[in-house]
Amino acid sequence: MKEMTIRHVVENDLKTIHRIERSAFKNSYPRSFLKALCRNNKQTFLVAQKEDKVIGYVIANYYGDEGHIISIAIDSSERRRQVGVKLMNSIINVLKKLQVTEIRLEVRKSNIKARKFYEALGFKYLCTIPEYYGDENGMLYTLSIADTSCMLEQCLNSQSLA
Ligand SMILES: CC(C)(COP(=O)(O)OP(=O)(O)OC[C@H]1O[C@@H](n2cnc3c(N)ncnc32)[C@H](O)[C@@H]1OP(=O)(O)O)[C@@H](O)C(=O)NCCC(=O)NCCS
Repeated sequence: MKEMTIRHVVENDLKTIHRIERSAFKNSYPRSFLKALCRNNKQTFLVAQKEDKVIGYVIANYYGDEGHIISIAIDSSERRRQVGVKLMNSIINVLKKLQVTEIRLEVRKSNIKARKFYEALGFKYLCTIPEYYGDENGMLYTLSIADTSCMLEQCLNSQSLA
């Protein structure tokens, strides 16, 4: 099996990240925004790489002890192979080291696959944000880092950042 690594983003990754982002989301972030995140949030912007190919990414930021997942997407041909859970495990470990104790994220109400993914990781539904996406409500989920689920625990230490 080809080995997967998780590492911090570099600007050369942005073309592939933008392609994955566009194919995953109806209202995808423009490349200029991804570039700004890459420059300003490098510590909390991770990519999954298989051989020499970027196959997924997660972007977060934090303010004080609260972290926020800005975006996560996996190349459609690589989904359901635990890439997402490994990226989330890695970003949680990064955020823990930055003294974050709680992580929040928003997800479209209709994005049932992503909601199941977050719930499998132990995220709890907190409330609905009306028209968060303009055309759809957002569901706000939260994870207390002390409560990391079994699925995350199983991955602990299985990935180290390059
Ligand atoms: C959501 C997403 C990031 C999940 O990544 P992934 O690598 O496919 O997920 P994993 O293989 O790590 O899944 C971990 C667990 O989450 C749950 N899960 C993931 N995808 C699921 C799906 N399509 N249906 C139901 N449960 C799912 C399962 O419990 C899974 O464990 P299992 O495969 O042992 O049953 C991926 O589907 C994706 O990129 N979607 C498009 C972008 C997106 O919607 N991002 C979230 C925006 S808020």
